[in-house]
Amino acid sequence: MSKTTAAITAVQGYIPERILSNHDLEKMVDTNDEWIFSRTGIKERRMAAKGEALSDFGVKIIEGICKKRGISPLEIDMVIVGTITGDYRFPSSANVMCDKAGCKNAWGFDLSAACSGFIYALDIGRVYIENGTHKKIIVIGADVMSSIINYKDRATCIIFGDGGGGVLLEPNNEGVGVIDSVLRSDGAGREFLLQSIGGSAEPITKENAESDGMYVYQEGKTVFKHAVQNMADVAVEIMERNQLTAEDVAWLVPHQANLRIIDATANRMGLGKEKVMVNIEKYGNTTAGTIPLCLWEWENKLKKGDNIVLASFGGGFTWGAIYLKWAYNTN
Ligand code: UT7
Repeated sequence: MSKTTAAITAVQGYIPERILSNHDLEKMVDTNDEWIFSRTGIKERRMAAKGEALSDFGVKIIEGICKKRGISPLEIDMVIVGTITGDYRFPSSANVMCDKAGCKNAWGFDLSAACSGFIYALDIGRVYIENGTHKKIIVIGADVMSSIINYKDRATCIIFGDGGGGVLLEPNNEGVGVIDSVLRSDGAGREFLLQSIGGSAEPITKENAESDGMYVYQEGKTVFKHAVQNMADVAVEIMERNQLTAEDVAWLVPHQANLRIIDATANRMGLGKEKVMVNIEKYGNTTAGTIPLCLWEWENKLKKGDNIVLASFGGGFTWGAIYLKWAYNTN
């Protein structure tokens, strides 16, 4: 029997119904479908309904996971939520989700790592499974980006969308599950992608409440350069240190920020397009939501034992890669 690993045993996504297309955005800011699609690969994104908060996404995700796995929410030990758009600054959305979904025996917390929120959270969850103290952990990556986007800023409003997903982690002794991780951060990148007002550095006041700092600011070109380099670097590093060739890798699950960044990462790994999960066209960049949303959409194609590399880059800067072996067949 091999050592205990943390295996993904269920996956569930959630996307709100309302669609905001590139053509809709043409009516809101000075942009056009051709520019957006050719620069990013995005055609449309989803928007939360009025009054729909992150915890509402989370409840749907938790309920879906429990239903698929045939378990009660009372069996969940822990819920970790990668997000930058929680219901409140405090308490954490994990607490709100557990209350609303009936996970009365779970503890949990939110984790702020922007687009790398899901993979950071996944790696923390796996430690609690590997050490034997927890048996069922739900790891969620989700964001309601529409709550912090300025729909007058064409540099950001064309990219982001709402949505997310989650996975159930359980102990496994068959050699599948999370095998390795490479996680990185560099706070010097904070000035290029941030929401500057609303924290203790610059609390909300009457004077600044309507200023642009209330929303996401991104210096796209600089972030792009760092993303292309760093996301590919960690993906290649995790392949090398696990002696994985391009043939060994069944799937790359990249953060969906820009199709050009995804292509560059796949090229550096030596992977053809058929091995790369891409749904940016439909959902845009859902920040911590992109990777679990991909796993959910591709679930039926995944086979037990598949070598999968997750890779992300985002605000912070934060970035990283996780190597896992898929743990189940759906059919
Ligand atoms: O997920 C977290 C991490 N984030 C990322 O990884 C995002 C990384 N950055 C990007 O994906 C890209 O930088 C963007 C998609 C944000 C922007 O693409 P770009 O190719 O870097 O464009 P740019 O900002 O250099 O702008 C090129 C031109 C400029 O015009 P000039 O100066 O060349 O005349 C912009 O003013 O395109 C103009 N422009 C636009 N035009 C139409 C900028 N935004 C728009 C727009 N529609 N929405």
